[in-house]
Amino acid sequence: MPGLSGPSDYSQEPSRHPCLHINAKEPFNAEPPRSALVSSYVTPVELFFKRNHGPIPLVDDIERYCVDINGLIESPKKLYFRDIRMLPKYNVTATLQCAGNRRTAMSITRKVKGVGWNVSAIGNAVWGGAKLADILELIGVPKLTSSTQSGGKHIEFVSIDKCEVENGGPYKASIPLSQATNPEADVLLAYEMNGEPLNRDHGYPLRVIVPGVIGARSVKWLDSINIIAEECQGFFMQKDYKMFPPSVDWGNISWNTRKPQMDFPVQSVICSLEDAQSIKPGKVRISGYAVSGGCRGIERVDVSIDGGKTWREATRFQKTGIPYIADGISNDKWAWVLFELTVDIPQSTEIIAKAVDSAANVQPEKVQDIWNLRGILNTSWHRVHVRIGHSNM
Ligand code: MTE
Repeated sequence: MPGLSGPSDYSQEPSRHPCLHINAKEPFNAEPPRSALVSSYVTPVELFFKRNHGPIPLVDDIERYCVDINGLIESPKKLYFRDIRMLPKYNVTATLQCAGNRRTAMSITRKVKGVGWNVSAIGNAVWGGAKLADILELIGVPKLTSSTQSGGKHIEFVSIDKCEVENGGPYKASIPLSQATNPEADVLLAYEMNGEPLNRDHGYPLRVIVPGVIGARSVKWLDSINIIAEECQGFFMQKDYKMFPPSVDWGNISWNTRKPQMDFPVQSVICSLEDAQSIKPGKVRISGYAVSGGCRGIERVDVSIDGGKTWREATRFQKTGIPYIADGISNDKWAWVLFELTVDIPQSTEIIAKAVDSAANVQPEKVQDIWNLRGILNTSWHRVHVRIGHSNM
C-alpha cells in the first residue's frame, strides 16, 4: 500500500509509557496498573492497553495513503485520507476490551494458551472519525443493507502488519454488512483518539472501531476493505477468539464448530485495590469498572465484603453530575461505567464485585464454569483479598 508499510522487525517501535506492565515485548502487549483505569472515565492514550500481533506499521506519506474498497460491489474505489476526513465526523465514546482480559486468572485453574493479561486489557476512549455506514453509502451500498446485489454479506477489514500466525500476512477481521451499514451501530473508521490523531500503537493513520464487540474486530492500520459473501477466513476469526466449552481441549478441538466471538458479555473489576493488599481497618473506598457488550447498559454492580455471603449495591457513574441510569438517553451507550462503594472493613476478608447488565445477564461465579482453552472472556466474579495490617494504601 502506498503511504503505509508494515516492517518485518521490531527496530522501529514507538516509545511507550514506563508504567505499562509488559506482558509480551515482541509483538508489544502491555497494560496499565489497574488503579489508572479508575483515575479517569476516559483513559489517557499513553495508559491505554496495547495489543499487537506484529511490528507496528509506519506511515511514509500520508498524502499517498488510501483505503482500497473491493469485493462484491458494483464499482471498487480508493478512498484517500483526505476523502475520509471530509465526511461528517462523529465522536463515539466506546470501551475497547481485549477478549483476553483477565486471562492470567483463568490459567490458574487450568493452563490456557495466549498472552497473559491481568485486569487492564481494557480502556475507554473518545474515538473520532467517519461512520462506516456513510463510507459504504458513498460507494453505493445504502444504509441498513444486509446483502449487496452480488451477494456481499460481510465487511472484511485488512491491515498491513505482518503477523506470524498469518505466515507474515496481515491482521484481518470482518463484521456483518447489516452492522456496518447501520448508523446506530456507530462503527467508525477512526483517525482520532481522545481528540488527538491516533498514535502508531493504536492504529495511525486509520483504524476500525466496532463498539460493543471484542477488541479483536477493531482492526488497526487499515489497508483495505472487502465486501465478501462469507465471514473473513483469517486466523483471528477462524482459529482464535472463539469461545469453546470447558470440555474442549487441544486434542479434540474442531474450530469450525463455533462462531467467531463478537459481542462481549457483562464484566466488572475492582481497580482500587490490588489482590493481597494490606489495608488499615476502617472505611475503604472500593471502585472499579463495569461494562457489557452489544449496547447493553449496566443495571447494577453488587459488592460483597464477606466473600459473597451478603451484597451491597455500588453507585455507578459515567460523567460527574449526571446520574447514570442503564440504557438512559444521556449515557455513552458503548462505554463502561465506573462504580464505587465506601464501606467499613474491620478484618481481613475477600471483596467481590459482580455486575448485572440491562438484559439481566450476570457474571458467572466461578472461572471453572467458563474455562476455555484460549482463555477468552474471563468474566467470573472479580475477587480481591485484603489483609488488615500495615497500610500501603
Ligand atoms: N489490528 C491489527 N492490525 N493488528 C492487531 O494485532 N489487535 C486487535 C485489534 N486490532 C490488532 C488489531 C486486538 S486483539 C485488540 S484487543 C485491539 O486491536 C487492541 O487495540 P489497542 O492496541 O488500540 O488497545
